[in-house]
Amino acid sequence: MLNVRGLTKAYGKIVVADGIAFDLKVGECLGVIGPNGAGKSSLFNMLSGTAMPDSGGIFLAGQDVTRLPAHARARLGIARAFQIPQPFPSLSVLDNVRAAATFGAGMSKLQAREAAMAALDRTGLARVAHKPAGSLPLLDRKRLELAKAIASAPKLLLLDEVAGGLTEREVHQMVDLVGELKSAYAVIWIEHIAQALKAVSDRVMVLHFGRKLLEGTPQGVLESTVVQEIYMGIPTDAHPASA
Ligand SMILES: Nc1ncnc2c1ncn2[C@@H]1O[C@H](COP(=O)(O)OP(=O)(O)O)[C@@H](O)[C@H]1O
Ligand SMILES: [Mg+2]
Repeated sequence: MLNVRGLTKAYGKIVVADGIAFDLKVGECLGVIGPNGAGKSSLFNMLSGTAMPDSGGIFLAGQDVTRLPAHARARLGIARAFQIPQPFPSLSVLDNVRAAATFGAGMSKLQAREAAMAALDRTGLARVAHKPAGSLPLLDRKRLELAKAIASAPKLLLLDEVAGGLTEREVHQMVDLVGELKSAYAVIWIEHIAQALKAVSDRVMVLHFGRKLLEGTPQGVLESTVVQEIYMGIPTDAHPASA
């Protein structure tokens, strides 16, 4: 579903991607870890089209999307759940998801309503469909990010720290949800929480200064000396191997 080749980008002297390459199938979840500033969100920016790489290629189901604008990629099936939920706070939960389906995926009014209802069901938000999005607690705001992403019927689902800031119990609920969703999409999940990645990812990739240092089984990568070393001296709450 996704092939990334030689992806490279710098902002001045800050290298956010240095020849990144990987492949992803439907039903697979690739976990991404790396210290703050490693280039994780930048990778999502380049995949979703809000930033352009300096060189390299991004292929979605065989189609070269490297230079397509974000709205075109959304319509081809690339959807993203943001690290910081950004709903329209005074609109209802349902209307937020409808808006994502209408403007993101270009669905008709009727299609968007159906897709939104289905997305709310799948993410456990049907019970709060008519509440203002701004009134939701954090776990539900994170669920809403997922609902907005899946309402557009994507092929590739980009999850940026959707479990970040949640309590341990809530992390379990988010893990269960992503685990249920995974079979229908190709998923990339950026997350600092090791248990979450171990439970859901098929592979984990480590980014550091824009370089892919390692890719392998969650257990093998999270317990590797490479990961231990790059997180030396970094507070444990941002340290996947100790979470
Ligand atoms: N639009 C931008 N302009 C300049 N620098 C940027 C921009 N976006 C990200 N950066 C820088 O690139 C580096 C990687 O950022 P980011 O991809 O957000 O890291 P991560 O998500 O891994 O914490 C950081 O040093 C950040 O300040
Ligand atoms: Mg980030």
